[in-house]
Amino acid sequence: MKMASIILVTLFLFNLVFVPSMALPFGFGFPGDYDQQQPPQDNEQNQDKNQKLVNDGNNGNLRVGFYKDSCPNAENIVAGALAEISKTNPNAIANLIRLQFHDCFVVGCDASILLDYSPTGDKVEKSSMFNGQLLKGADIIDDIKSKLEEQCPGAVSCSDTLAFSVNEGMAIAGLPRRAALGGRRDSIYSLASVAEDNNLPMPNWPLEKMVELFTRKGFTIEEMVILLGAHSVGSAHCDVFMERIYNFANTRKPDATLPTPVVNELQQICQNPGTPQFRNPPVNFDETPTVLDNLFYKNMITRNKTLLITDAHLLNDPRTIPVVQQMAGDEGLWQKRFAEVMVKLSSLNVSTGTDGEVRKTCRSTN
Ligand code: HEM
Repeated sequence: MKMASIILVTLFLFNLVFVPSMALPFGFGFPGDYDQQQPPQDNEQNQDKNQKLVNDGNNGNLRVGFYKDSCPNAENIVAGALAEISKTNPNAIANLIRLQFHDCFVVGCDASILLDYSPTGDKVEKSSMFNGQLLKGADIIDDIKSKLEEQCPGAVSCSDTLAFSVNEGMAIAGLPRRAALGGRRDSIYSLASVAEDNNLPMPNWPLEKMVELFTRKGFTIEEMVILLGAHSVGSAHCDVFMERIYNFANTRKPDATLPTPVVNELQQICQNPGTPQFRNPPVNFDETPTVLDNLFYKNMITRNKTLLITDAHLLNDPRTIPVVQQMAGDEGLWQKRFAEVMVKLSSLNVSTGTDGEVRKTCRSTN
C-alpha cells in the first residue's frame, strides 16, 4: 500500500508541468533531514506498539476546563502567545489549522505530526511526502508550548497545545470565541507509513476518493464541504495547482472549467515552469487570507475560481453543489458549522486518561 502511494505521488509529480526536465519537486517535499535523527531500533515489542497506535483510540473524555487545577491559565497563555506570534506571522493561523487536520487524520489528534523522530527508528509522519515542506506551524507550537512549560511544567499536552492554538486562532480569524475541550494525550510514536496509507488527501484526487476518506474518518459529505472552507485562509503554492493553468490533463491547455480571467490572474503569479522566471510562490486561496469568511465559496459561485482540483470538484457534483451554494449565501451559517465541525475534527480518535503521555517538548517523546 505504501509503495502504491509512493508510485501515485511520483506519477503526479512528473505530470504536473509542461517540460518534464523542469518538473519541480512537488511541495509536499522530501525533507531528508529527519532521517539522520532516528535511532535505528525496531523490534517485535515496538511493532506491537505500532499496531496498537494504529488500531486503538477513543473519542470521548475531552472536556472544557480540563486544566482547571493543573494549569488554570492554559488557554490565556496560549491566547497571549498566539496574539504575539500573529503580529509578525500572518500565516500562523492557517498553518496551525492545516497542521491539526494533518495530525488528526493520521491515527488521531495526538500530536504525532510534531515528532521529529520515533523510538522505533521508522520515518515520522512529518517526513512523509504527504506532509513535507509545505506543512508549517511546528515551530509555532514549540513557542507556545515553551510558554506553557514556563508556567505549568509537564501539565499541558502537545495535542492540547495544538487544539487550544487552533481554537484561539479561529477566534482571531473572526469566529466567535469558544472554550476549548482539553484532555488529549500525546502519542509516543509517529509513522510516515500510516500517513501514506490513504489517510491524507492529495490535491489531484477525484471526489470519490475524498468522500471515501472523509466518510471513513466519520464525516458526512456536508461536513467535508464545510471543512474544506478552511481554504478561506492561507495559501497554496503554484506547483500544487500548476497543471490547471498550463497543462491540464496533459492537454497543454488550462483547465476548461477555469474562466480565462482566473487563468490569467493565476498565470501572472505563477510563471510557466518551463521558463527561467519560474518561482514557486504561495498564492492566497482568496482575497482575505487571514479571515475565516465565506469568500472561498463565493468565489466558486460567482467566478468559478478555485486553486485546487479537489476544491473544484465541489462545484461539479449534486451532493456538494447545494452545500457550496448554501455556504456562499450565508457566512454566519458557515462560520457556525465550521466551528462545530472543527470540534469534531479536533476530537478525532484522541488518546485520553493514561494512554500515551504529556510530552515536555513536542518534537520528542519524554
Ligand atoms: C481533499 C481535502 C484537502 C486537500 C486535497 C487539501 C490540500 C491542500 C493543499 C495542497 C494546500 C496547499 C499547501 C501549500 O501549497 O502550501 C492546502 C492548504 C491548506 N489547507 Fe487543505 N486540503 C484539504 C482539506 C483541508 C481541510 C479539511 C483543512 C482544515 C480543516 C485544510 C486546511 C488547509 C489550510 C488552512 C491551508 C493553508 C495552509 C497555509 O497557508 O499554511 N485543508 N490544502
